[in-house]
Amino acid sequence: MKVLVTGGAGYIGSHVVMGLCESGHEVVVIDNLSAGEKSAVDSRATFIEGSIQKKEDLSQCFEGVDTVVHLAALKSVNESMQFPQKYSENNITGTLSLLETMHENNVKHIIFSSTAAVYGEPEYLPLDEKHPLKPINFYGYTKLSAENLLEWYKELMGISYISLRYFNAAGYDASGRIKYLEKNPQNLIPIIMEVAAGKRDKVDVFGDNYDTPDGTGIRDYIHVSDLVKAHLNALELIQTNQSALINLGSDQQYSVMDVIKIAKKISGKDIPYNIVQRREGDPAKIYASTAYAKKILNWSAEHSSLENIIETTWRIYK
Ligand code: WQD
Repeated sequence: MKVLVTGGAGYIGSHVVMGLCESGHEVVVIDNLSAGEKSAVDSRATFIEGSIQKKEDLSQCFEGVDTVVHLAALKSVNESMQFPQKYSENNITGTLSLLETMHENNVKHIIFSSTAAVYGEPEYLPLDEKHPLKPINFYGYTKLSAENLLEWYKELMGISYISLRYFNAAGYDASGRIKYLEKNPQNLIPIIMEVAAGKRDKVDVFGDNYDTPDGTGIRDYIHVSDLVKAHLNALELIQTNQSALINLGSDQQYSVMDVIKIAKKISGKDIPYNIVQRREGDPAKIYASTAYAKKILNWSAEHSSLENIIETTWRIYK
């Protein structure tokens, strides 16, 4: 199959592109390199530097394409609250322009990179796909808006979509072939890795008085190689013209202190930390129900033990 991957030079995108190439698909990548790196793109893929917001860039990519995998987006929660326009343009207008170009080129299948942030504060756990959608940050709102656009373009233009709602994506391909490091990481695991590698002095732990066994926040960390497999299965499913919204989680939950302890054990490095104030908008616990992914995608996480996530990440950071 010929697949267009937007954002294919970023952290998750570069893993997805490698997985697609390995499965024998022909891959075209469009990426504006605002966060990604050309060197992270599998050499078997065709790379086009460009923006999904520009029709003239996008229209170069569509020759013979069957399916689009849409990962290009901005993803910092904090930044989205400060610069909502930038997030609207990239994540909402970008998706709209992509859907319009798909329609013009008669491409009927899209797999979308969505997020647990569409749910907001959990009203119950585990979060299933029927949970109310009330994002509490602008980033989550832009992803929910993009999902709404997908639903409308399905109704109006007959474009099928599969929206994959990732929980906390982490880890690296076990072979170590992808060496891409985020430039200014804001998520827990890369921050801890930077401390272990001596690039930062310490980790700020955002609160130790949550209603959790050790008082720190609990999350559902999902290995990027499991995300890749879910995309490959979604690619098969979408050929039947089905649309779906699917959570991708690991069925395991770890606290901030669990992550620090395992990172210390695996790296053999000291990981100094400070307990600081809670971060605004952080729920005590978020984790996914993966029942629907098992049923519809015939998928469940196989690489997402915290040990494996940290081990594969440490190999790159050390
Ligand atoms: C994990 C835990 C923090 C940093 C975000 C987005 C979500 C999705 C994944 C993309 C929390 C704690 C963190 C630090 C800390 N993104 N923490 N010190 O907030 O669960 O999810 O990334 O789609 O939409 O919201 O991830 O890695 O920032 O935090 O104590 O320096 O680590 O409080 O409990 P989060 P995270």
